Amino acid sequence: MPFITMVSGLCCALWLLTIPGARSAPWSTPAPSEVPKHYSGAAQKLADPNYGPIPGESDIYNSYWGLDRPFPGNIRDPIFPTKVGPPADDDFTWQNLLSAEWLIFEFYQQGIESFNESDFVKAGMPNTTYRRLQEIRNNEAGHLRIFQNQISSTSVKPGPCNYTFPFKEPISYMALMTVLEISSMAFLTGLVQQPKVDFEKGAMLAIAAVETRHEVWALMDIWKSNPFGGPSDTIFPYANEVLDTTNAFIVPGSCPKENPEFPHPRQKLPALSAGKDTLSLTPGSLISLDFTDKKNQPKFDHDKVYYAVFFHGVLNVSVPIDTKDWPQKEIWATIPSSFETKGIIVAAVADKPGAPTKESIVAGPGVILEQPAKLATALLRGG
Ligand SMILES: *[C@@H]1O[C@H](CO)[C@@H](O)[C@H](O)[C@H]1NC(C)=O
Ligand SMILES: *[C@@H]1O[C@H](CO)[C@@H](O)[C@H](O)[C@H]1NC(C)=O
Ligand SMILES: *[C@@H]1O[C@H](CO)[C@@H](O)[C@H](O)[C@H]1NC(C)=O
Ligand SMILES: *[C@@H]1O[C@H](CO)[C@@H](O)[C@H](O)[C@H]1NC(C)=O
Repeated sequence: MPFITMVSGLCCALWLLTIPGARSAPWSTPAPSEVPKHYSGAAQKLADPNYGPIPGESDIYNSYWGLDRPFPGNIRDPIFPTKVGPPADDDFTWQNLLSAEWLIFEFYQQGIESFNESDFVKAGMPNTTYRRLQEIRNNEAGHLRIFQNQISSTSVKPGPCNYTFPFKEPISYMALMTVLEISSMAFLTGLVQQPKVDFEKGAMLAIAAVETRHEVWALMDIWKSNPFGGPSDTIFPYANEVLDTTNAFIVPGSCPKENPEFPHPRQKLPALSAGKDTLSLTPGSLISLDFTDKKNQPKFDHDKVYYAVFFHGVLNVSVPIDTKDWPQKEIWATIPSSFETKGIIVAAVADKPGAPTKESIVAGPGVILEQPAKLATALLRGG
């Protein structure tokens, strides 16, 4: 799995303009109440934002200690439009976010189902770990409901797919959790640049802050490390490119066919990870670039110069790379030694320094975990 070394994991920039009155995509405006026959129609009750427990009012999104999926995670059909009309300005953004949230929610749900309190204690973690994970799972259920309600009644609200995550025991589970949470923080810095409505930008920032609390808890309680991530977390402006990498966790063909494309728009860039010969992922280290999906490899033009672009904090640094003899010869790049060993570094391959547009990116992004540094190195060694 790519993100074992660099998260080609999760956890898009120029927003697709929706022209009022135009049917910009077939899934945006089916006729109201047109629920395909293979669904019971029960999920349609969720089209009403006041149906069921309300996030911010109900404690089910905090302190539900059951094993079964909490609302609305237990209602898995897509919710179909109840009005005819063009999609609202930000519907695609919230559809992307809802689809990504289903993946995160299911990650926690699978953890709750796979482990119990004593499994974590046996792995050397605090006896509160399981409960905290349940609470995070409940918060994520609240996110599902918030995002469903942000999608207007003229657009479909996507349902979950099936997902497989590469964890076997509590330590690899918590390592993946750490990486997913910090990747969502980076992804939200890009996504927040998309909505046209100011309130929605605020809502995304509020969600990013919750993911940050989850991450800080893991850094302190699980990894017993410094919880701070430097003066700024990493901005990566092309959020859909980060989302696209999470398709690696989706069981092919398992999504409801009425779901919108995920993410939309989708570039299908080759996945990027650190190669096996890489010894360290800290700033100043030489890393080999591995394009992990054998069926989706980059194409390098012989007359062009390509760059490994490293994003950290509010900065980015571009390092020219030698692609001439690839794939016979591995491509190597040095992670800028000027970066602090904090938070994450996001790496991408671009055909322009600074990766000024989403189209300039030709592979990646991959998320490089810097904190805790020991965990990053262990992940690299497949530990
Ligand atoms: C927790 O799960 C393990 C198996 O993973 C099992 O042996 C143990 O009895 C369970 N403990 C509790 C308290 O349910
Ligand atoms: C959990 O651990 C704390 C301290 O590590 C201890 O004081 C407490 O009694 C433990 N609780 C249970 C239920 O084992
Ligand atoms: C998805 O998971 C469900 C429940 O485990 C299963 O019945 C179904 O066959 C799976 N679908 C695919 C396409 O894997
Ligand atoms: C990278 O940094 C350069 C120089 O500060 C800036 O012009 C460029 O917009 C940045 N790239 C991205 C994608 O933010």
